[in-house]
Amino acid sequence: MLQRTSYLTTNYDKPECWALSLYESTGGYTQAKRVLTSMTKEQVIDEAKKANVRGRGGAGFPMGLKWSFMRPHATKPSYLVLNADEGEPGTHKDRTIMELNPHSVVEGCIIACFAIGAHVAYIYVRDELHLSKARLWGAIEEAKKKGYIGLAPFGVDYEVQVHVHTGAGAYICGEETALLNSLEGKRGEPRLKPPFPAQVGAFGCPTTVNNLETIAIVPTVMALGGEAFSKLSGLHAFNDGGVRLYGVNGHVKTPGVIELACGPTLNELIFDVGGGVLGDRKILCAIPGGSSTPILLPSETINAPDPAHPMHAFHGKSVFDVPLGVDTARHMGTMLGTCCVTVLAEGTCPVLAMHNLMQFYRHESCGQCTPCREGGSWLLRTVDRILDGHGTMEDVNNLSDIASNMMGNTICAFGEGTAMPALGFIGKFREHFEAYVRGERRRADARLTVA
Ligand SMILES: Cc1cc2nc3c(=O)[nH]c(=O)nc-3n(C[C@H](O)[C@H](O)[C@H](O)COP(=O)(O)O)c2cc1C
Repeated sequence: MLQRTSYLTTNYDKPECWALSLYESTGGYTQAKRVLTSMTKEQVIDEAKKANVRGRGGAGFPMGLKWSFMRPHATKPSYLVLNADEGEPGTHKDRTIMELNPHSVVEGCIIACFAIGAHVAYIYVRDELHLSKARLWGAIEEAKKKGYIGLAPFGVDYEVQVHVHTGAGAYICGEETALLNSLEGKRGEPRLKPPFPAQVGAFGCPTTVNNLETIAIVPTVMALGGEAFSKLSGLHAFNDGGVRLYGVNGHVKTPGVIELACGPTLNELIFDVGGGVLGDRKILCAIPGGSSTPILLPSETINAPDPAHPMHAFHGKSVFDVPLGVDTARHMGTMLGTCCVTVLAEGTCPVLAMHNLMQFYRHESCGQCTPCREGGSWLLRTVDRILDGHGTMEDVNNLSDIASNMMGNTICAFGEGTAMPALGFIGKFREHFEAYVRGERRRADARLTVA
């Protein structure tokens, strides 16, 4: 059953919910003060590890573990960088935090900076999010005036400065090393790894890059204690702890963002949160966590007959009835990604849907790696040809080959982000592609919208 929670969202529907006075009236900044005045950084990292917060940016890397990679450098400073680029199509959760609860971000920055030995946090926000920037700037100013950030937060000799840095709206700048290049004023192209940001990050210094939501939930983690926070999750046993924001969009009646204990099912998100499918149609497929994540069909089931298999409890169930978490999604052959589900109703043309996504990825490739730069264009041109009725069966096969050859052959995961949805649509809807080749379907009749 859907477990609604309200930690990050507790003030979302109150007037002036972004103001310091309201944040403080619900316990705001008490955790930052407690951490700075009475804890060691090792104790904070320990709580973070126990909380089992899996990074909210897409890859699901454990937050506490990432923090523990930070080592002080003899001569260089360390940095915290918050990723609020949020360019993934279908993803719109970080924006709500910046607009409606910006002080949780500032408080999270104070605690995280202390834990990783940083004195400066940069929040990287895409430029067109004017309200998000304004609310963050306002929160930073209010916190400065109160002495919660600055040279000596809460009177403690541990300087913390928080800056908002605006990006120009390139999807690739959400990739953490492209973001770091952009932050440094360079072209937003991903870097080769290793070295990882914890060794060589912003301005050549040790850096932790976390998603904005990952950091915004930190005050809650400290308030509840790591273990108690983790146990709020329905997926505590999978080391996927606590609560997080989920989104639902596409062909649903009531799209939106909601805070839930980790582990709702797709059906719960679509029907209980999203109000069901537009026109009460059947579901064609869902993109579970932002457009880069492979699609799932309601007819797919979990195959885990071995009692020792971690997914055995869900053996035989539809993937739409399995709790969505970082590891459970992986077992379903997809990724949790950003937890913002896009629903496609029956009647949508999957070939046109893939074409739509490929237009986006072709446009957003930074062009650094040949498989991504050329592969994205080939995928788009090939699916265009198929839609126009000029495609061949060889073209359909080529789509899989091109996408497969992009996997693992690029500097960053953008290549996979392009290839995975392509492979999903071709693999699961091949007959639709073939129908265009046989002339049984025409582009003019294809639809992306439903009534
Ligand atoms: C093409 C691409 C775009 C990305 N966009 C974002 C983004 O907008 N926001 C984000 O937090 N992470 C994004 N990521 C993931 C980041 O590289 C990184 O894993 C994340 O910021 C780490 O934070 P977390 O550990 O708190 O999840 C993107 C990755 C790729 C490959």
